[in-house]
Parts: sequence; structure tokens; C-alpha cells
Amino acid sequence: MSTSIDAQQQMYEAYASSYAIFLKNWQIQRQAALDMLEKHLKSNFSKQPEVSSVLSVGPGPGEFDKQLIHFLQQYVPKGQTLRYVTVEPNHVHRQIFEATMQSAGLGEVDLEMHPVTIEDFHTDEQFDCIHYTHSLYHMPNQERQLILKSLNMLKDGGVLVITLETEEAVIFKLMEQYVEIVGNQEYWQESSCVEANKLRKTIDDIGLSYKFETYPEYLDASACFEQNSEEGRVLMDFLFQANLRNASSELNQQLLSLVDEVAFEQNGRKMLYLPTGTFLIPKQ
Ligand SMILES: C[S@@+](CC[C@H](N)C(=O)[O-])C[C@H]1O[C@@H](n2cnc3c(N)ncnc32)[C@H](O)[C@@H]1O
Repeated sequence: MSTSIDAQQQMYEAYASSYAIFLKNWQIQRQAALDMLEKHLKSNFSKQPEVSSVLSVGPGPGEFDKQLIHFLQQYVPKGQTLRYVTVEPNHVHRQIFEATMQSAGLGEVDLEMHPVTIEDFHTDEQFDCIHYTHSLYHMPNQERQLILKSLNMLKDGGVLVITLETEEAVIFKLMEQYVEIVGNQEYWQESSCVEANKLRKTIDDIGLSYKFETYPEYLDASACFEQNSEEGRVLMDFLFQANLRNASSELNQQLLSLVDEVAFEQNGRKMLYLPTGTFLIPKQ
């Protein structure tokens, strides 16, 4: 009989392989958050801004972190090493993250990984930058508490950066439709999944000042429409946040028509619109 720890490990493994396929087909604008951060650093400091420590919440395979480290190294005070702390509960993602960092040619970085959720992470350390990049979806109904906890973990002058898809992203519609058809079969995701517009209400409600920018991103979902495509099957799992391996062919067909309804054609590809927003919240 499998223990709940085994079940969780299996879920992490399934999530990691599905997210890898999603990432491969995702036309994502990582630069947008970096540009906002650059503008913030340059406009809030009279002298050269300095950044010496970062906390990344849910770095996953580390693709964004690699870019962020490269970008922030120019702001590290002379003679110091950038300290980069991560909080990542998924063991597969931690392994991939290590490999990403090793092959990224980053030079000296003081990396520290914590194999826990952000909810279970406790430290007295304070950071110049904390970011949740496409990870807050997995912490439903914790947003308010996590924003306050993160602001407490920032140094004076530090900044919290949160990137999430907006409610117009069609993946939320697909997830909702799945729950309507199948019932609330929780797999990776709880039913109430936070998106940027909902988060904005929470940030406004706390009374924080912030910058917010949205930008378009897309997913090439063509593989879903290819017969017997393993990549398409895994992508369908991610789009519906469900394990469809044992789903009936009728259900798979029904779900594929839902994807077709929200897709648009571009250069013969089936594309999904997944606009994203980044919040930049200074310590206050
Ligand atoms: C969609 S992935 C995003 C990964 C990466 N930041 C990126 O932009 O590609 C979400 C990540 O958040 C992690 N995660 C989920 N729940 C978490 C929690 N409670 N605390 C910290 N990380 C969490 C997942 O394991 C996963 O690696």
C-alpha cells in the first residue's frame, strides 16, 4: 500500500514532467519582470543600487532564476557574492534546479536550497528581493499571509516581485470547466486558484503601494491535437491540472474540444492566450 509520502512524491514527479513539457511550449516573456525590477532599482536609489541576497519561492527548474542571477550580479556590492536562497518542496525540481545552476556559468553564487514549502519556511534572514514567479497559484488562500510574511523578510529598501497569469488566461477557464464536468478532483491544484486580478484585490485590501504591468504570453498547444502524442497527453494534464491517463476516450475528446474552443490558429499552430502580470511591491 502506498503511503501518503509516496503519493506526494509521485505527484511531484508527475507535476515536474508535465511542467517541463508546458515550459517547452510556453512563449514566456521572462524579460518583462526583469525590466520592471531594473526600472525600480535605478529609480529608487541615488547611487548605484546594491542587491546582495534574494529569496526565490518555488523556483522549479530554475530557468527564470538563472536569468535573474545573471541580471542581479551587476548590482552585487564589490567584494561580495550574491546570496540566493530557494524554497522548493518538489524534489525533482530541486534536482533540475541544481543542474540548471551548474550549467549556467554563473560564476560565484552562494546558493542555499530549502526542501520545504514557503508556509513551513522560517528564517531570521532578511533579503533585498523576494520573488514568487508563477508559483503563488499553488498556495491558494494564503496570499495575504504570504505577502505580509514576505514583506517582513525584506530589508529596508527591499522589493517583493510576484508574477502570475491574469484571469484572462484561458487555462483558468479550462480548469473550471474540468471541475464542472468531473467534480472537484483535486490533483495538483486546489479548486480556488489565485490569478493576478484576484491578487490585486488582496494587495489593495492590505493597502500596499505597488507597480503592476501585464503582458501577453502564449502556449503552443498543437501537440494536444496530434494523435497518440505523449507530449500532447502530458500537456492536457497540465492544462486541466488533472491526471487524464486513465480518463475515458469520451472525456479526453470532450476536453480536447474545450481546448479547441479557446485556441486560435497562428502559422498552422494551435495557440492559447495566457497573459501574465507582474507586481512589484517595495518594502513598506
Ligand atoms: C509553475 S512552477 C514555477 C516554477 C518557476 N518559478 C518558473 O517560473 O518556471 C511552480 C513551482 O512552485 C513550487 N511550489 C508549489 N507549492 C509551493 C509552496 N507552498 N512553497 C514553495 N514552492 C511551492 C512547485 O513545486 C513548482 O516548482
